[in-house]
Amino acid sequence: MQNSIRPETMARITTPELAHAFIEEQIKEVRAQVGDKKVLLALSGGVDSSVVAALLIKAIGKQLVCVHVNHGLMRKNESENVIEVFRNQLDANLIYVDATDRFLDLLAGVSDPESKRKIIGKEFIEVFADEARKLEGVEFLAQGTIYPDILESIKQAEGKKAVKSHHNVGGLPDDLQFELVEPVKLLFKDEVRVVGEALGLPHAMVYRQPFPGPGLGVRCLGAITRDRLHALREADAILREEFDNCGLAEKVWQYFIAIPDIKSVGVKDESRYEGWPAIIRAVNTKDAMTATIEEIPYEVLHKIVARITNEVEGINRVLFDLTPKPTGTIEWE
Ligand code: XMP
Repeated sequence: MQNSIRPETMARITTPELAHAFIEEQIKEVRAQVGDKKVLLALSGGVDSSVVAALLIKAIGKQLVCVHVNHGLMRKNESENVIEVFRNQLDANLIYVDATDRFLDLLAGVSDPESKRKIIGKEFIEVFADEARKLEGVEFLAQGTIYPDILESIKQAEGKKAVKSHHNVGGLPDDLQFELVEPVKLLFKDEVRVVGEALGLPHAMVYRQPFPGPGLGVRCLGAITRDRLHALREADAILREEFDNCGLAEKVWQYFIAIPDIKSVGVKDESRYEGWPAIIRAVNTKDAMTATIEEIPYEVLHKIVARITNEVEGINRVLFDLTPKPTGTIEWE
């Protein structure tokens, strides 16, 4: 698909039937575009890259090489899920790279949020490029670009020379230049989800809440340490489990834990217990430009506080962030 402007006549994909028709059409287009060549895909486990992977597995099977980079900043079990769904269930050609040490070593002692983001973004491209260089015969790069990315790029490029798509593996080094395969680039997010379900991806993967590229790196505030990152991951898993249990997971747009780099004095087993506070953030929004706070029943909050403080080593308080955006952003960094 070369055209990047959605025709006005293109129907919204709202039903499984429309999704299947779209999938069949894309299978033909992808096969015509790539022939018998290999296609590389950075598979983060997010909705867009997962749907593209599932679609391309259907179209070209093992000609698709998926690379999942675990930067050590994923949520609990996330990389394991990617492996389970794509390698075990969909029989994908999946390369799993555990680059935790590479990322955490580089991030050690770095407290400035923008520097952390830059390090994570740059290292991600380097790890991915290292893997790409090891492969032979790859001529195409698949990306989960969706229509809002294109609209955003057009907006950014107004008055400038070229309209470029923006996505997380854009910016690869010059020795790695591929032709792009972007099968969902004319779709809006809700349509990508309908296509994902039609492709048989798990509901939780297709309706996964947004997760920033730098992952838990922007929620482990200040300089990241392994012990605080571990506490964050465990506390976040408890929050997600409890939101699932009481139906809030379907209602709240984005929810997570952030842990600042401070300790307070507490008490446990009749002894002084210094620990970090875990901060709960649970927001609703349409476009992430503004956000409101979801009102969580006190009994749910009490249960989460009890579980986190009992089960997670190093956390002695749990706070609930009631600040809308503005003035708070959704993330803390
Ligand atoms: P803020 O914190 O700016 O976040 O209110 C708005 C939305 O964007 C997500 N976010 C990011 N996503 N890379 C991403 O891919 C990032 O660096 C990043 N920072 C924030 C955030 O999770 C929220 O959904």
